Amino acid sequence: MTRQLHFGLHPYGVGGPGSDGLWKDARVAKNASVDIDYYIDWAKLAERGLFDAFFIVDSQFITADYPPHYLNRLEPITLLSAVATHTKNIGLVVTASSTYNSPFNLARRISSLDHISHGRAGWNVVTSFDSQVSKNFGLDEHLDYATRYGRAQEFVEVASGLWDSYEDDAFVADVEAGVFLDRDKLHALNHVGEHFKVAGPLNLARSRQGQPVIFQSGVSEEGRTLAARIAEGIFAPGQSFESAREHYQDVKARAAALGRNPGHIVIIPNGSPVVAATDEAARARAREIYEEDNDFDRKLGFLGRAFGAYDFRQHDLDAPFPDLTHLTERGGRRGADLVNRARENGWTLRQTVEVVSEYKSPPFVGSPATVADEIQRWFEGGAIDGLNLAFRVRDELEYFIDAVVPILQERGLYRRAYESDTLRGNLGLPFPVNRYTRQREEAAAVVPAADFVSA
Ligand SMILES: Cc1cc2nc3c(=O)[nH]c(=O)nc-3n(C[C@H](O)[C@H](O)[C@H](O)COP(=O)(O)O)c2cc1C
Repeated sequence: MTRQLHFGLHPYGVGGPGSDGLWKDARVAKNASVDIDYYIDWAKLAERGLFDAFFIVDSQFITADYPPHYLNRLEPITLLSAVATHTKNIGLVVTASSTYNSPFNLARRISSLDHISHGRAGWNVVTSFDSQVSKNFGLDEHLDYATRYGRAQEFVEVASGLWDSYEDDAFVADVEAGVFLDRDKLHALNHVGEHFKVAGPLNLARSRQGQPVIFQSGVSEEGRTLAARIAEGIFAPGQSFESAREHYQDVKARAAALGRNPGHIVIIPNGSPVVAATDEAARARAREIYEEDNDFDRKLGFLGRAFGAYDFRQHDLDAPFPDLTHLTERGGRRGADLVNRARENGWTLRQTVEVVSEYKSPPFVGSPATVADEIQRWFEGGAIDGLNLAFRVRDELEYFIDAVVPILQERGLYRRAYESDTLRGNLGLPFPVNRYTRQREEAAAVVPAADFVSA
């Protein structure tokens, strides 16, 4: 089959980063981020657009300076369990931190979502960007990069091991023979590693798609290495064709070097299209959105996120940007890059806020044909396998589905019907055969040497 685009949708309710003035829009319900009917409605609409996944991002630390959607939002697995019962084909991807969860608990909850949705669950493995989350989980400090990513890898290995606890035909439920379970097909994990000790087995069988699909979204060196090892889907930043292409090529090459099939990793960067009847109208709308959101004080407040929720208001705006490198070592490299740029350019704090919030024309702005052209250019140019889309309001999502999707379908770049009713099936990912079944089959296929000699 020819390669086709994959779309996700990540909803931001009353407004996320970059859309924090959204709550003022008369079309947005003031409780959207905690209203399950809002999520169900958007997921059903995305399903009408044949999107692969409905994607819930998450974090577990806030200050009053965080975007409106972050301040008051539903827990992702609970949310998606409700959405699952109102949808049939669209994948349901939950963001959950490997730093602030334990593998048995999380593997069980995500597997439950996989059952509730009949094989449509995915897990976006994050290591947590907000360093202050640690304070909500009994730690004084966020774990450093190496520990966080080492833990993430082991976490996924343990979860995957637990998900294979039962072979697919373990429950014979033979009433006449009085046998409910084939005991040989239940396996304890007995994992003892650097970060976790988990005996297993998990008290839940595999779903129709075998195991939930693993997504990843770190972009640092450690993040890319982890993605190449374990990710089946990647949610990446998508600021420009060049940066998306560099990331795409790099992660696929790393995966290939590890012996993986790069075609089995679906990379869908962030995309927030602005579509209007003409290119000119769309460009004007993109500029208008920027003006609506461009509030200096809010930008100053949220700048502190990459520095462990640091309060920049305590500094003179016209003094040189303070050297806070020590606050960026654990939270995210984004903060450290900013300190370096400010130092190299001799920016004040005010200038730094202005630079990070200055208007940059986003990708995918234009008429339906222009936006379809641009998506096609990125897709065929080796930068994306699709996009994880965000829209400000329902009308804009609907317009994309009704105006852009048909053009992509016409060009043979996008499905006309779902191929499958599992997330794995729609993403074109292979079914993971249970590891114990595979071992059994491999052992049976090998003719033992002694038998061969005596035959
Ligand atoms: C597109 C994208 C989406 C992300 N979504 C989340 C999220 O919802 N929750 C979270 O804690 N971290 C999220 N992250 C952060 C990453 O998981 C990671 O912790 C962070 O980027 C710092 O690691 P890095 O320096 O390896 O990127 C996201 C990152 C990217 C690039």
